Amino acid sequence: MSDFKPQLKIVTMAVAVAISGLMIGCNDNSSEKATVKDDAYYKSLAEQLVSQMSISEKLDIVSGPGMDFTTFANNTPINLVSDASGVAGYINGVKNDKLDIPAAKLADGPAGLRINGTRDGDSGTYYATAWPIGSLLASTWDTALIEEVGKATGEEVKEYGVDILLAPGMNIQRNPLNGRNFEYYSEDPVVTGKIGAAMVEGVESNGVGTTIKHFFGNNSETNRNYINDIGEPRTFREIYLRGFQIAVDEAQPWAVMTSYNKVNGTYVNQRKDAVTNILRDEWGFNGLVMSDWFAGNVMGDSESAAAQLNAGNDLIEPGGQKTNLQASMDAGSLTEAQVTQNAVHILTQVQKSPSYNRYAFSNNPDLNAHATLARKAGAEGMVLLKNSAALPIANSKTVATFGVNQINTYKGGTGSGDVHAAYTVTIAKGLANRFTVNSDLQDYYTTYFATNKVEHAGSFGGASTYSCDEALVTGNTELSTLLTTAVQNNDVAVISIGRQAGEGADRTNAKGDYLLSDQETDMITAVADAFHAQDKKVVVVLNVNGVIDTTAWADKADAILLAYMGGQDTGNAVADVLSGDVNPSGKLAQTFPASYADVPSSTSFAGVDNDTDGTPDDTYYNEGIYVGYRYYTTFEKAVSYPFGFGLSYTTFGYSNAAVTENSLSKGAKGSVTLTATITNTGSVAGKEAAQVYVSAPEVKLKKPVIELKAFAKTSKLDAGAVEKLTFNIPAKILASFDQANNQWIVEPGTYKAYVSPSSNVTDTTLVTFTVDKEIVVSNTTAGALALADGVDAASVTTISK
Ligand code: BGC
Repeated sequence: MSDFKPQLKIVTMAVAVAISGLMIGCNDNSSEKATVKDDAYYKSLAEQLVSQMSISEKLDIVSGPGMDFTTFANNTPINLVSDASGVAGYINGVKNDKLDIPAAKLADGPAGLRINGTRDGDSGTYYATAWPIGSLLASTWDTALIEEVGKATGEEVKEYGVDILLAPGMNIQRNPLNGRNFEYYSEDPVVTGKIGAAMVEGVESNGVGTTIKHFFGNNSETNRNYINDIGEPRTFREIYLRGFQIAVDEAQPWAVMTSYNKVNGTYVNQRKDAVTNILRDEWGFNGLVMSDWFAGNVMGDSESAAAQLNAGNDLIEPGGQKTNLQASMDAGSLTEAQVTQNAVHILTQVQKSPSYNRYAFSNNPDLNAHATLARKAGAEGMVLLKNSAALPIANSKTVATFGVNQINTYKGGTGSGDVHAAYTVTIAKGLANRFTVNSDLQDYYTTYFATNKVEHAGSFGGASTYSCDEALVTGNTELSTLLTTAVQNNDVAVISIGRQAGEGADRTNAKGDYLLSDQETDMITAVADAFHAQDKKVVVVLNVNGVIDTTAWADKADAILLAYMGGQDTGNAVADVLSGDVNPSGKLAQTFPASYADVPSSTSFAGVDNDTDGTPDDTYYNEGIYVGYRYYTTFEKAVSYPFGFGLSYTTFGYSNAAVTENSLSKGAKGSVTLTATITNTGSVAGKEAAQVYVSAPEVKLKKPVIELKAFAKTSKLDAGAVEKLTFNIPAKILASFDQANNQWIVEPGTYKAYVSPSSNVTDTTLVTFTVDKEIVVSNTTAGALALADGVDAASVTTISK
């Protein structure tokens, strides 16, 4: 892409006049390299562009073209120079005798670029790579790998002619039943922020944009457009905003998408304290802020769009709000100065886009290379939860595969996080590619699925998906006979359990969803009894969107692999791990609790139905900052598999943990650095994700007993090899939020730090560092995100130390 091509006559003037201080001889290539093309530069040009626009044109910029509800297709945007079928929305362009700004294209999403794979009247294909879901990517704990995935994703964005990706999804996995958890990274904000930043860096290295979403508090799908999150500012700041803050700080994405929900009574996209004071003023965000699609009650409230612009939400998507915005201007509730500012924010980013720069995209990204990388990322993020000498499966062994999910394998979730990929490798196929499998069993499940599947119409233009009750073994003569033969002829059983989820609905704590169905329990029991009677091993593969119960059945399995949804090459990636071709190094970025009832938000999810209309209205964030492992460790609740946990085919020793530098006496700019030595103490090569948990002193503020503050992954270490890892924790990551004083502070005292393989730090040798006096890391906006008048904090946060 040519780095910069003036789109209009006035740009030359702008270069010469408005930003002459930044630009040295714009027609001279050598000196152009010296130009700092940062957001200040583009903002200056954007101001020039917008100054040439009529108010009508400015309103076109701040409101997308809208959607035709008879066909549910986007209306045609202004000055669309080239299209990409299946994008989610557009930013209108401008075309007049002075300006020629092409429309920009926006497309989902978190597991890869969501555009149509085929087009009417066109024999070409436009498939994109279906990457592993966000939860799996985060479980790699490998920011370099995520950046690579981002780079490849961004190449598809660019080469298919799209400008801004509507991803990554960075909401916190507050509760396992959120239907969109699969799109998100973690229950922890540091993991979320660091993985999100790496994704942004990778995608944007192509000269296309990202949109971190959904800012913030979109942590359930039930009544998602209207739900009101009620919580204390500290809860939102430390848990639900912090990941976004880290991503802005480290990667400065082009865009932020605000969420559907309200926070403390007001839609987030209409909260100036969130969108302007916190995001822009406190964090220094320079990009554009867009609404989620139809968010903020735009269809029910003609003043909603104006309220969003006034709050600093620059772009209304999918748009179609021009008439309402004009009416608000006429009524005096929206000023031209406000619209100008919103339009400048948008055009600052649009100028960097391929469409603006007339990039000649190829429609030919390197899908083969990306398929290899997707398979690699899939295997790197799968988490080995249990292994009693069952894995890896030796080449010489024959494998009996059970479960309809081996045929009905889920590459990812549904909704806007889906991807139109060219193929999905099922678990049956992946295992057959790698091992000698029992083909009679695979044929049985193929036929069973074809006969018993239930079709669910695709959402968001996606293909249909299928569910299928598991085949009972008990009382099923055909399957029982196949089982008997398999036990005689095969060495090991691999059982697949699947769970689909998607946008628009939450999951349930019921059989067939969070719990195993009766048929699944029957299958696991029958297969385990039969194979164990012959001293043969049983492996369970979980092809799931998120957490399911394992307590009820884990003892029946010799090995459990959490495969999540591994993208288009799920089956091959599962085989890579089961065979030992890839030594698993994924670790949980969300806790597997012992029971759903142990989840701190189990009683408040998905909200209370105040008006008894059958849908929840308010969700009380009763657990405050005690989300995920912060709760289980502080309140000493046993869990099935702790946050940060994952097994390997080798073992690792941790030694020489030390604090090597403590510059916290410098205050807000200070940091603490730790190192530790990781040794591969086993017999095969492998990688280890090491985590630093900090236990902070409590002076004014109560705190979780431990919090993750840094992590790093070793390179692939041969047996016996050693690597020294370094962890840096800046004061701002160490800080807690003192809501009484509107400050991020680091409290004085002795801090304990654990360099640990997981959040279970009981066997980890601690090191300490001290902070002499309180550090005020930053002062924040007084009263931001406050509880609504009359709501008492003690009635909201009911779980506290
Ligand atoms: C989703 C967003 C998505 C948008 C456009 C909305 O329903 O919440 O995540 O980017 O649709 O497809």
